Amino acid sequence: MALPNCHRHVLWKILSWGFFLLRSWEASGTKCKQWLSAAVECNRCIWDWSHVGWLGVTAEVTPCLPLWGFASLAAPNPPALWLPHARVCFCLQVHSKGLKLGIYSDVGTKTCAGFPGSYNHYDLDAQTFASWGVDLLKFDGCNSESLDLLAEGYRRMSVALNRTGRSIVYSCEWPFYLRPVQQPNYTEIKQYCNHWRNFYDVYDSWSSIKSILDWTALHQDTIVKIAGPGGWNDPDMLVIGNFGLSWDQSVTQMAMWAIMAAPLFMSNDLRHISPEAKWLLQNKEVIAINQDPLGKQGYQAGRDGVNFQLWERPLSDRAYAVAVLNQQEIGGPQKFTFSLTFLGNGLACNPACSIKQVLPASRDCGVYSWMSSLSLEVNPTGTVLLEVLPL
Ligand SMILES: *[C@@H]1O[C@H](CO)[C@@H](O)[C@H](O)[C@H]1NC(C)=O
Ligand SMILES: *[C@@H]1O[C@H](CO)[C@@H](O)[C@H](O)[C@H]1NC(C)=O
Repeated sequence: MALPNCHRHVLWKILSWGFFLLRSWEASGTKCKQWLSAAVECNRCIWDWSHVGWLGVTAEVTPCLPLWGFASLAAPNPPALWLPHARVCFCLQVHSKGLKLGIYSDVGTKTCAGFPGSYNHYDLDAQTFASWGVDLLKFDGCNSESLDLLAEGYRRMSVALNRTGRSIVYSCEWPFYLRPVQQPNYTEIKQYCNHWRNFYDVYDSWSSIKSILDWTALHQDTIVKIAGPGGWNDPDMLVIGNFGLSWDQSVTQMAMWAIMAAPLFMSNDLRHISPEAKWLLQNKEVIAINQDPLGKQGYQAGRDGVNFQLWERPLSDRAYAVAVLNQQEIGGPQKFTFSLTFLGNGLACNPACSIKQVLPASRDCGVYSWMSSLSLEVNPTGTVLLEVLPL
């Protein structure tokens, strides 16, 4: 059987300027118009982001999408507040700027916010999205009557997207909804989806970032090996540039999302972003690690007590990205010393390597031999991200 999911060789990096975390579920017509014009206005400032390699924009304006997008044409009562003109105009404006467009819908009868979902009219919705020029579909999993219907819906929407003939990235939540009841079959999920969420929504807080990292480390034996070109674990969006993360925590999110080969989506307001957050989100070295063409996801390679975690990710050309995360939430910078001998199963620095620090600031750390060790100072809740190049 031909694989239904062939929107595979698509964007690896997606700049999504969304309002997910600025959301208010009580979208009103007026508020929605404001969101839409803000998003269009921001398409201008987004221009300034494409030079670092963010390939496109998916503007997912959550409170408005039900009004201009996700409500299926087949829904018996399209919400009265639909703004069809705004919608079409918005799609055209996004594309005329060379940007990509994302949209959100749900496999069930209703979205999580209670707007009409795509249940039982997957083909019609896929065709409609394709006709609007949608480039990415984020497909949520609320309001399915059973897990069988959920799985069937995710498969059917994948096939429906393929049938449109348009290359549309398919972002699923399938395993997240399965997990409480059964172990997801990632081989199958990867045949249908390009990204999949496994865990709860990210929030603009350090405890949320920590919980995502802890979950990922705990389940790495099942989820890391399946990730690769065409199909990725999605730890959810970058919240850098909002209010909840300190500088060090923002560095941790950027570094760890690179280690996890995460699809990159931002949820922030690009009109009001600090120069530091912008520097981090536009950092070419860390984006290059995130997008490394070998496409392997990294993993936690070790821990030192409760404070330090060592993560590594194999990169192309036998290089490795290495992250040292200091979980301590008190005190000042702490020193962490580790042996290079064991990095990358003993291969990363064999017989020698040159080490470059990428975050929190770029610097050359010099050349090391296999038997040597490296000492780093890491701030509380911060991460040092390194690139290790074999010699
Ligand atoms: C649909 O699937 C076929 C068969 O796997 C593939 O060749 C084609 O490129 C896919 N089309 C799209 C638009 O994804
Ligand atoms: C998982 O899905 C694959 C592909 O659809 C299938 O070949 C395999 O048998 C499934 N594994 C289990 C344990 O059901």
